[in-house]
Amino acid sequence: DGPLSGVTLGSPGVVPTGGVSKADGTALFGRAGQQVTVDLRFHEENRVARNVIAQTRTGRSDNVVMAGAHLDSVEEGPGINDNGTGSAGLLETALKLGGSPKVNNAVRFAWWGAEELGLVGSTEYVRALDFEQQLDIALYLNFDMIGSPNAAYFVYDGDDSDGVGAGPGPHGSAQVEQAFTDYLAAAKGVEVEGTDFDGRSDYGEFIARGIPAGGLFTGAEGKKTDDQAAKWGGEAGAAFDPNYHGPGDTLANLDRTALDRNADALAWVTASYAISTEDVNG
Ligand code: PHE
Ligand code: ZN
Ligand code: ZN
Ligand code: ZN
Repeated sequence: DGPLSGVTLGSPGVVPTGGVSKADGTALFGRAGQQVTVDLRFHEENRVARNVIAQTRTGRSDNVVMAGAHLDSVEEGPGINDNGTGSAGLLETALKLGGSPKVNNAVRFAWWGAEELGLVGSTEYVRALDFEQQLDIALYLNFDMIGSPNAAYFVYDGDDSDGVGAGPGPHGSAQVEQAFTDYLAAAKGVEVEGTDFDGRSDYGEFIARGIPAGGLFTGAEGKKTDDQAAKWGGEAGAAFDPNYHGPGDTLANLDRTALDRNADALAWVTASYAISTEDVNG
């Protein structure tokens, strides 16, 4: 009887054509005053994977703020940091934002399926949009691993300020990076670093279509440097998430402070773009 009653997310099985979206969507988001569609179109290895999409009832539908997190995990582990953290942060913001107060720009939340199989859910979603529907998306925010136990505070590097690795994101991405950077500095006293749009998470197809993007990441198999340990705490020379894609990716192995700070940043930046995307699209 919680907000998740009656919803089976990502369960394998035969999905009725046309979807079960209305009933399940109401069970999931009815109290928050949101409407839900469930995207059921893609198949991989004879399994059904699903995206769950929920959009605020208010706000411009031609200037949509999208925020996404993948809901699946690898078979080798429970996937609490990767990506229970992003999924839970996004859900909490969706439920709190709810249907009121009214927002200027619609917010569309996406819980992606089959990310671990090659960004399948998000890629299929974006590819299925027609040109007008793509243009209606003002920006995309991605949350994949936001509570790593030896956490980094990474923000996707919209302007390629370090000049190495992958290039900049689409026009406007630098402003998204700045929004996260400013919030985490001002509200949490955290000095972030940029991380490249290297194609390893669900923003990939959005930036391929020129949609401004950004988001947060606390690190996977990469190792924390001495400088980073001095700045953020934690253990230098150790992986940001030693349990990445392993059986140890459990509730016991999170940095809850990092999760809390990043969940607040997720909420704040999403809500601020629901008020205005002027800095990105103006
Ligand atoms: N997408 C990767 C995974 O789910 C994690 C990751 C996120 C890696 C962001 C790099 C950057 O396993
Ligand atoms: Zn993963
Ligand atoms: Zn992930
Ligand atoms: Zn930058």
